[in-house]
Amino acid sequence: MKLNALTSSLLALALGVRQGSTQTFTGPEDGRLQIALTTENPINGVATTPEGRLFVLYARVDGSKGPQVAEWDYATNTSTAYPSEEWNNYTMGKDPATHLVRINSMRIGPDGLLWLVDVGSPAFGAPVILPEGPKLVAVNLTTNEVQTVLNMGNATLAISLLDDVRFHPSSGKAYLTDAGAPALILCDLATGDTRRVLIDDASTGAYMPISAEGSLLHAPDGSFQRIYADQHEVSPDGKWYYYQPANGGMSRIETKYLDQAFYNSTLSQILPSYREPYALTPSTGGTAIDADGNIYTSDTDSQRIIKIHTNGTKTLLVQDPRLLWVDAMWVGSDGRLWMPACQLNRGIPFQNGTNRVVPPLHVFTIDLSCGPSPIDHA
Ligand SMILES: *[C@@H]1O[C@H](CO)[C@@H](O)[C@H](O)[C@H]1NC(C)=O
Ligand SMILES: *[C@@H]1O[C@H](CO)[C@@H](O)[C@H](O)[C@H]1NC(C)=O
Ligand SMILES: *[C@@H]1O[C@H](CO)[C@@H](O)[C@H](O)[C@H]1NC(C)=O
Ligand SMILES: *[C@@H]1O[C@H](CO)[C@@H](O)[C@H](O)[C@H]1NC(C)=O
Ligand SMILES: *[C@@H]1O[C@H](CO)[C@@H](O)[C@H](O)[C@H]1NC(C)=O
Ligand SMILES: *[C@@H]1O[C@H](CO)[C@@H](O)[C@H](O)[C@H]1NC(C)=O
Ligand SMILES: *[C@@H]1O[C@H](CO)[C@@H](O)[C@H](O)[C@H]1NC(C)=O
Repeated sequence: MKLNALTSSLLALALGVRQGSTQTFTGPEDGRLQIALTTENPINGVATTPEGRLFVLYARVDGSKGPQVAEWDYATNTSTAYPSEEWNNYTMGKDPATHLVRINSMRIGPDGLLWLVDVGSPAFGAPVILPEGPKLVAVNLTTNEVQTVLNMGNATLAISLLDDVRFHPSSGKAYLTDAGAPALILCDLATGDTRRVLIDDASTGAYMPISAEGSLLHAPDGSFQRIYADQHEVSPDGKWYYYQPANGGMSRIETKYLDQAFYNSTLSQILPSYREPYALTPSTGGTAIDADGNIYTSDTDSQRIIKIHTNGTKTLLVQDPRLLWVDAMWVGSDGRLWMPACQLNRGIPFQNGTNRVVPPLHVFTIDLSCGPSPIDHA
């Protein structure tokens, strides 16, 4: 069939709208989504073990109180503070080194430990408690006790937002993103030594504010809300490190340059010459990587999950009106993608002090027919 110019441009427009582009998506729901759990309070991270244990991270952006890190009990659909009530019960005056001040993300690592990323500031926007607050806390899932605390005070500024962690087992390094002061933090897991790299680089910074449900987000003082280096992944072969600010625009750099820069300050200075653009991603809540190296990224404007293939091509995995700000995702050993739809943008820090989160909230899963990257977690 031959179309005239007007018809074909109308057709393109219709297709664009149907595929969502950057519009809020109103429907229909996708029947492939399954509800893994339902809560009254936002969950912005999940981690599962092959044996079926489930750990959850409560974001507390709705003003709710209680533990942040918890283990979920499917028999009762309730959760219990993890590793203990006291670790989760930081209050002013308590030792920030032996309490979780504020956990931004959480994941089981390739070593089987549950790693908690502690921002070290008691509230969104509040100064980091230096030097003891910011840290990586590793919990042993057999003893259910804290096994290691790696202090990040030497690599963190008062305005830092220690965001997330990934691992590069062959070099014994952990990579962290700083979403409050643009940089990556390299950490040697054996010694706990740290380095800040790609400081205020175009790839860790954010010209654009974050956007959700179609609007740019503002801080209470009216300024635009920017979230710097945030989502990141390591390729299953360990060669590439992918990273981006929350407003999108994913870069990649070979892990060997990061690892060498840890010991070589000259190389550290010229790291920007080794990074390159990887994928034009939208404003993002969270990512995950699978065993084949495909990256999943959640679009906070259009309630969809985009799959970035290893050749850079993007396809739509799923779009559903319920996928409101899907935060840190997780690929389970059962080959399912876990998507905590936590409505983060409706929380108090992004709504000038008002909680607009609408419960109940769900963590959804969808079949990927592909498991996790073995150097990411089991
Ligand atoms: C727990 O929640 C799941 C998912 O929402 C539901 O299928 C299951 O029936 C619930 N179990 C109990 C004991 O309420
Ligand atoms: C948290 O700590 C405070 C102060 O020590 C204590 O009063 C409170 O009972 C604790 N809460 C929990 C849930 O352990
Ligand atoms: C967890 O603790 C047990 C008992 O101390 C120990 O055997 C095991 O190696 C620890 N696990 C990890 C991953 O370090
Ligand atoms: C921070 O740096 C100081 C000075 O180099 C060093 O003495 C200290 O051990 C470091 N702290 C940590 C936790 O690495
Ligand atoms: C936030 O609320 C305060 C009053 O509670 C108001 O003065 C301020 O203008 C508000 N900021 C924005 C960006 O709306
Ligand atoms: C450090 O990196 C620079 C820049 O890549 C390189 O010229 C130099 O040889 C390196 N130094 C060592 C000791 O490897
Ligand atoms: C990229 O990979 C996808 C998935 O394997 C494939 O469908 C697509 O044709 C590839 N694109 C290019 C340009 O090679």
